[in-house]
Amino acid sequence: MAPDNNSSEDCVTTEKNEELNTFAKNAGARVGLTSDEIIINGGRPLQGRIEVRGAKNLATKAMVAALLGKSASVLKNVPNISDVRTVAGLLALHGVLITRGEEPGEWRLDPTNVELAHKADIDAHAGSSRIPILFCGPLLHRLGEAFIPDLGGCRIGDRPIDFHLDALREFGAVIEKLPSGISLTAPNGLKGANIELPYPSVGATEQVLLTAVLAEGQTELKNAAIEPEITDLIAILQKMGAIISMEPNRVIFIEGVPELKGYRHRAIFDRNEAASWAAAALATEGDIFVGGARQEEMMTFLNVFRKVGGEFEVEDDGIRFYHPGGELKPVTIETDVHPGFMTDWQQPLVVALTKAPGVSTIHETVYENRFGFTDALNQMGADIVVHKDGIQDYKRRVARREFEQAAVISGPTTLTGAKVEVPDLRGGFSHLIAALTAEGQSTVTNVGIISRGYEDFIGKLRQLGADFIFEG
Ligand code: EPU
Repeated sequence: MAPDNNSSEDCVTTEKNEELNTFAKNAGARVGLTSDEIIINGGRPLQGRIEVRGAKNLATKAMVAALLGKSASVLKNVPNISDVRTVAGLLALHGVLITRGEEPGEWRLDPTNVELAHKADIDAHAGSSRIPILFCGPLLHRLGEAFIPDLGGCRIGDRPIDFHLDALREFGAVIEKLPSGISLTAPNGLKGANIELPYPSVGATEQVLLTAVLAEGQTELKNAAIEPEITDLIAILQKMGAIISMEPNRVIFIEGVPELKGYRHRAIFDRNEAASWAAAALATEGDIFVGGARQEEMMTFLNVFRKVGGEFEVEDDGIRFYHPGGELKPVTIETDVHPGFMTDWQQPLVVALTKAPGVSTIHETVYENRFGFTDALNQMGADIVVHKDGIQDYKRRVARREFEQAAVISGPTTLTGAKVEVPDLRGGFSHLIAALTAEGQSTVTNVGIISRGYEDFIGKLRQLGADFIFEG
């Protein structure tokens, strides 16, 4: 059990005082990086073993869920990434006491003294993450009001929050838009609702779950997201005392309960990070054992990885990803909601596709603007054409969204070193891979963004034998 000791050296936050506010304000800062630039000498295969920890896209939501409990929660396998620190800072501002537990990555979150935070302090988090929008339901339940700062996250499209706000209104929330964020109240409490999402949005599904569990009555959510991270969040809420059933055809049914308790939970592994290292193994003609990765949540990725020419071996404690030799093969991919091919997997894999003889096509159906990273790859010698309105392709399954685009990658091309700037989290990782495979030296700047979602990626690159200079 985690020590309940405020004075411990391991204490992440203590009480709501000046020190805590300073922690909270700085929480969005980069994790463990003092330099924003890495110089990479390409051409060396990545080889060795690394570990992935809990998923960014679960751990941050699980931390918010702790707000709903009457008692403390313990979350294990929390990754040391800046998105987690941003959420910790915001929870701390609302009076949640966060202490480290016994094992690395174990956090204890005690919401006993949840209280309203000062708007000015919350404002310090504006633009640092998208998770604050998920505080709405829990804060309304706990305090009857909430203020949410302007959101951040990767600039990969408009990323509106209309599904979130529409759902909250269905529960009875009254929302006021302010110049620096949104303010919410629930004059008549929150009541169960029948909600159908226009698209199976991950965030909006989480919003409904985190609000419905304590709302009075029943909630039926249609067209819900069913990503493994959502299932893990449901498991957490069930541990807390919630009654939630996942039904066929993307329906989730929630019976509101009057009270929830804390949970003890080990966060599901980060399949996006695992897929990124797998792509790095393939592109660098290397061999990486990703400890903590599991087959079940990565089946769609593994199929594509094999079709491109990669090989993998599934073990009890992780998956070995490697380039078995021979030529890579082109593929057609359409990103999709689970169980489709995740949008977060395409960017790292594109680098390997630049080496495959023939034409690969990636249709991005989830975000409007997720091919920005290809400019840098072209600068390095790739041949990638982004078609703004998508293209017809006989291998496509469905036409998904109006604003979809396609990237057509013609290979094989040889990448050469260049100076490139990281545009967003996953695009940034693809820049690292490109630099690792390129002939000569590359300088990748703005790498701080990568620590939003990749724990100790510098240490892992070192472990895998990459040749680089990083003055951090
Ligand atoms: N959308 C709306 N209105 C809304 C909400 C979403 O139009 O109110 C649209 C979005 O603009 C987007 C699509 O719906 O075009 C899907 O968005 P979704 O809500 O599913 O995404 P999210 O919850 O904002 C999470 C992950 C993303 C991941 C997507 C899809 C977190 C913090 N982020 O975003 O992860 O790509 O689901 O799986 O969980 C990343 O890790 O790099 C990342 C961007």
